[in-house]
Amino acid sequence: MLGWVVTTRSSGKIAFVVVRDGTGTIQGVLAKADVPAAAWERFAQLTQESSVRLEGMVREDKRSPGGVELTVSDVVLLGPSVDFPITPKEHGTAFLMERRHLWLRSRRQVAIAKVRHEVIQAVRDFFHERGFILVDTPILSGSIGESAGTLFETEYFDLGKAYLAQTGQLYLEAACAALGKVYCFGPTFRAEKSKTRRHLTEFWMVEPEVAFNDTHANMRLQEEFVSYIVARVLDRRKAELVELERDTKPLESVAAPFHRISYTDAVTKLQGKGSGITWGRDLGAEDEQLLTEGLDRPLFVMNYPKEAKAFYMKENPDDPRTVLCDDCLAPGIGEIIGGSQREDDHDKLLARIRHDKLPEESYGWYLDLRKYGTFVHAGFGLGLERTVQWITGSPHIREMIAFPRMLYRLYP
Ligand code: 4AD
Ligand code: MG
Repeated sequence: MLGWVVTTRSSGKIAFVVVRDGTGTIQGVLAKADVPAAAWERFAQLTQESSVRLEGMVREDKRSPGGVELTVSDVVLLGPSVDFPITPKEHGTAFLMERRHLWLRSRRQVAIAKVRHEVIQAVRDFFHERGFILVDTPILSGSIGESAGTLFETEYFDLGKAYLAQTGQLYLEAACAALGKVYCFGPTFRAEKSKTRRHLTEFWMVEPEVAFNDTHANMRLQEEFVSYIVARVLDRRKAELVELERDTKPLESVAAPFHRISYTDAVTKLQGKGSGITWGRDLGAEDEQLLTEGLDRPLFVMNYPKEAKAFYMKENPDDPRTVLCDDCLAPGIGEIIGGSQREDDHDKLLARIRHDKLPEESYGWYLDLRKYGTFVHAGFGLGLERTVQWITGSPHIREMIAFPRMLYRLYP
């Protein structure tokens, strides 16, 4: 087999080497008496993370983790590794982040990468099975998608400023009028100056958009989607969740319907629990924590005040101070989804663009969607890394992507 050395030990007559290759680990056993002298000497050169080729016979062994062991007949050192910096002892996060390219090889990081992969595959299967069409939206964008406050800008030839996409949503709304049910899934960018355990400056977001769905149908799609993802990981990535010491009990009860509360009721509840929140402000991380405390499944907080949310959300006809939107809060982590019904009235949308002082001239195409056969539609965005953080039960978002981009991190 081909792989990298995890550990070695030797009694002088018999030697053991644990090797990993990405799919798993296996223990190789060498008996001094049974291998050529040169192979025995080469074993002594094996150090942590050297790459090797082991030749030999695979035997069933009930006591070993993978159920098999390798009786080694020859050892070839392919690439030596001297003083690998990450050892089994405790290292600080800063030390590990600086060596992220090597840290990725550790068991915990491998388990996270596999859960992330499973979530991505579940996302694609879910939408494919339901007849959604994938539409790839641009990363370089001329219109502001969410808010002017968190844009990464770059000069774009003679055309002025381009922004890195904060969302694919606006483009997806156009595609939705062509295809009915669509989704996009790609990297999105926010120049967030916040150093929290759940913010990245570059993260992956999956965004479906559905023609003729209202806010209620939108939430039903979200709860079905989130339950599907969780069930899929429980089904196919049990071993990784065990490696991550994730208590899977709380995940097993994630099923539709999720809990629902209006923003206004949430504020009253939070004030009762001692939060300083006042009506009109967006909920903070602590507020989300308080609201989901002890819940067995996620919670939708519905119909936030207009001022706290993006310009494209539809005004709530029952209370025009609010919009038809929801944040889906997962217990222990908070917001994993932001969703809404979109403003489909041309004049109301234009008024919101003006009120938010967005550059009106770059929204002509977006307003056109309200001029040519406007339609009720709704969609949402699920943050991939936050979802993986929740499912793996990890304290911080930075390990949920191979090479995280954060306020203080652009290397490696
Ligand atoms: O709530 P947000 O900003 O919603 C949108 O972008 C909408 N355009 C989506 C839509 O309706 N199509 O972001 C959606 C989700 C959040 O709930 C969160 O999970 C994640 O994206 N997210 C972040 N994840 C990591 N780091 C950040 N800085 C994030 N900002 C948002
Ligand atoms: Mg949001």
